[in-house]
Amino acid sequence: MTDHSDGVMDREYAAGRRRAPHLQFRYRVRAQLAVDAFRSRVPRQSTHRVIELGAADGLTLLAIRELLGSQGEFDGIELSDELLAAAPSVPANTRLLKGDVMKLPAEIKDGHYDLCTALAVLEHLPDPTQALREAFRVLRPGGVLVATAPNPLWDDIAGKLGMVAAEHHEQELDEKALRRIVAAAGFVNIEFRRFMWAPVGVLPYLKLKLDPARSLEIDRWVSKLKLLNFGFVNQCIVASKP
Ligand SMILES: C[S@@+](CC[C@H](N)C(=O)[O-])C[C@H]1O[C@@H](n2cnc3c(N)ncnc32)[C@H](O)[C@@H]1O
Repeated sequence: MTDHSDGVMDREYAAGRRRAPHLQFRYRVRAQLAVDAFRSRVPRQSTHRVIELGAADGLTLLAIRELLGSQGEFDGIELSDELLAAAPSVPANTRLLKGDVMKLPAEIKDGHYDLCTALAVLEHLPDPTQALREAFRVLRPGGVLVATAPNPLWDDIAGKLGMVAAEHHEQELDEKALRRIVAAAGFVNIEFRRFMWAPVGVLPYLKLKLDPARSLEIDRWVSKLKLLNFGFVNQCIVASKP
């Protein structure tokens, strides 16, 4: 049994992402969410510089690249050698670099990126604010951060049911904590959203297919009925560098 106690993941996770419909659905939803959030702030840009923190095997970064139109530069940072080794071959304008998101590799330039994603990674880190400071440093002014973290309520339930046994989470980050650490890193115009309503999130377990964009549309409708907010499995924060 692999030790996941440091929040860094391994080849079992990569194998799961290729095999398990629910893992594929989740990363595709996160990619779609990141692109939608970015476009809501920067609607008219055709070339993009993107950095994905905690990129795993690069599949989420590749999905973001496809959704954005593939022009630009796409960098993923990942600490796990096993996940980097499990990555598919990537296009010329895409790099998967070994590194710690709390201290980005030297080749990552300051003020360079339009979009920085930290999807399902902050909860794995001993110091998520430090990773957000790094995100702030490498974004250009006006650049957009999109970060996601599981809803602590559902994360506890999933933990008790053994559904996230392969994932060690260092932090429980609720809305208040997410807002606090994103603001502490210097970001402004901070917006919090909930996504992946539980009844929709279980569909892939039942082998029922749902388009990620449609899933996010359902989330938007459900979130209007504030009473059902507890039913969202995931949370997202969007913010800008001034
Ligand atoms: C749950 S996965 C999310 C992958 C991807 N961002 C997505 O949304 O599909 C979290 C990833 O962060 C990586 N990770 C954890 N701590 C890290 C660190 N300090 N630096 C870089 N990557 C890290 C893990 O190894 C894992 O691949």
